Amino acid sequence: MIFKQLFDDATWTYTYLIADPNTKEAVLIDPVNTQIDVYLQFLAAEGLTLKYSLETHVHADHITAGGLLRQKTGAQTCVSGLCGAETADIQIKDGDVFEFADGEEIKVLATPGHTPGSISFLWRDRLFSGDSLLIGGCGRTDFQGGNAGDLYDAITQRLFTLSDDTLVYPGHDYQGRWVSNINQERSNNPRLTGKSREQFIKIMENLNLPNPKLIDEAVPANRYCGLDEDECQDAMVRRELSLPKRHQGTAQDKVAAARQKITEVTVDTAKKLIAEGNINIVDVREGNEYDAGHLDDSILLPRGVLEFKISGVNELANKSAAVLVYCRTGGRSALAAQALQELGYNNVLSMAGGFEAWSKAA
Ligand SMILES: [Fe+2]
Repeated sequence: MIFKQLFDDATWTYTYLIADPNTKEAVLIDPVNTQIDVYLQFLAAEGLTLKYSLETHVHADHITAGGLLRQKTGAQTCVSGLCGAETADIQIKDGDVFEFADGEEIKVLATPGHTPGSISFLWRDRLFSGDSLLIGGCGRTDFQGGNAGDLYDAITQRLFTLSDDTLVYPGHDYQGRWVSNINQERSNNPRLTGKSREQFIKIMENLNLPNPKLIDEAVPANRYCGLDEDECQDAMVRRELSLPKRHQGTAQDKVAAARQKITEVTVDTAKKLIAEGNINIVDVREGNEYDAGHLDDSILLPRGVLEFKISGVNELANKSAAVLVYCRTGGRSALAAQALQELGYNNVLSMAGGFEAWSKAA
């Protein structure tokens, strides 16, 4: 197996990559948004496919790369269901097991206290303890719904009952230490060893730490898997449209409902209208799809950011002017046409079959 402990020196955050050189499946734990290129380069160099991007909690000190990784690799973002990160693909709960590669398992241990949704991951003999158990310390409990008593219980009853030689890989270490083990922490952690629950709570109440620099920015951003509002909308629509068939109810229902309210035209009709002129053409696909080929004079306005970006498009200032919307196959454009109508555009057409049908007809 490939195992890498990566370090973001701006936030002193550890990120972990586990991968199987045979099946090529990989998992990242606590990726940091500013390190995305490092991850992508490594995955590409090794020919790896990222299956899961796992979070130990909603972080206050850095922004996750989870949402970006989902966009760029198709990985599923996974955050505890108690973290309020509704856009995550998988809402993790205690006892979940993430399977990957050839029989590899990452087990979920709920370790609340630093935050209510904090979890630790156990893979083989390695524990990824996030900010719950740190080397010679533990995560703070004075914000984000933290609870010192819960943390004491989680560490002493769940983590300290693991076998002595379980390796402990924390979310941070501010003294440059990389790894510890359960025996060492059980017998030598100044905050916990020999301390009663009450004593521990007292210690935690009197730490008087300043807030992390990024907290106001990082906590809300991490609820959206690290994406801003625009990108988040975009990711949600794309996710709906790309879900496997058994989960497609919502997306298909949405598109079907939109089709009831909008006007679709065939590629032939679209061609005639374009030839006549006086129609704005809007491509609601992603930038990379647009770059690979698009209708002449079309304006790129991806579906996910349409409502946010449309006011900046001069050509679309007049809401009575005709607009032809298209995407790859007609689903996103149906949703976009409906959104345009809701914004007050009263002459909107969606091109059935999208760019694929257009290309075939050419
Ligand atoms: Fe944290």
